[in-house]
Amino acid sequence: MSAATPGIREETAAGLGGGTGPVHVAIIMDGNGRWAARRGLPRAEGHRRGVEALRRTVRAAAEQGVRFLTIYSFSSENWRRPQSEITELFSLLRRFVRNDLASLSEQGVRVRIIGEREGLSQDIRDLLDEAESRTAANLGLTLVVAFNYGARAEIAAAARALAQEAAAGRLDPASIDEDALADRLGTAGIPDPDLIIRTSGEERLSNFLLWQAAYAEFLFMPILWPDFDGAALAEAIATFRNRERRYGGLGAASAGA
Ligand code: FPP
Repeated sequence: MSAATPGIREETAAGLGGGTGPVHVAIIMDGNGRWAARRGLPRAEGHRRGVEALRRTVRAAAEQGVRFLTIYSFSSENWRRPQSEITELFSLLRRFVRNDLASLSEQGVRVRIIGEREGLSQDIRDLLDEAESRTAANLGLTLVVAFNYGARAEIAAAARALAQEAAAGRLDPASIDEDALADRLGTAGIPDPDLIIRTSGEERLSNFLLWQAAYAEFLFMPILWPDFDGAALAEAIATFRNRERRYGGLGAASAGA
């Protein structure tokens, strides 16, 4: 923990890119349905084209120096959608893991999955385990897939783990600090996101990375997710680099005054 940036983990504050970054980009991939509706196509086609945009974005992120890319692919709230759409999203995940894992691995991508595994069918759980274990030794971009993910549930689970360890006598409650909680989140060991992008013009966090987003820069882009590509990512990164991050301190202009 750096004294100059309280609450910020070293990896994010220093930035592996030497202050340029972003090291970690997180994306709320929104607008698949609207993309399809505008073309008179079924929503499922929007999601399928969303997977193509995801493939492009993973390659572009690695090429543009991003080290961690987190994508919101199925939220805890998405269970409220019609069963047919849920089935489609699950089959896209199955196909993505089955068809793309070898290519991701060739690109050096390491996959991490965050979100609740309970409540998912055994075949999906096995696929998620396989995606993580087969890519665990890769040294390139880390692709963090938030699947069946909700940030409040993630924080509650971390609090529960701390309480259980304290009750079992393995943890002194007085020692519980921000790092102790962060180490029990699904994202343990992953630096906080520097930049969170939401496509489609919506301006909400929708229960995504609530803890980890404390000092993230937000960018709401009008582009619909199926249209997203390397150029859109480059534009987002350029905008990020023009922002001044103060972490609660003073900006460069005021610091010497
Ligand atoms: C939001 O668009 C997108 C989703 C709820 C799912 C995102 C999923 C993908 C891009 C494909 C699946 C990815 C994997 C790895 C399986 P929306 O449907 O809310 O669009 P709308 O707001 O225009 O209706």
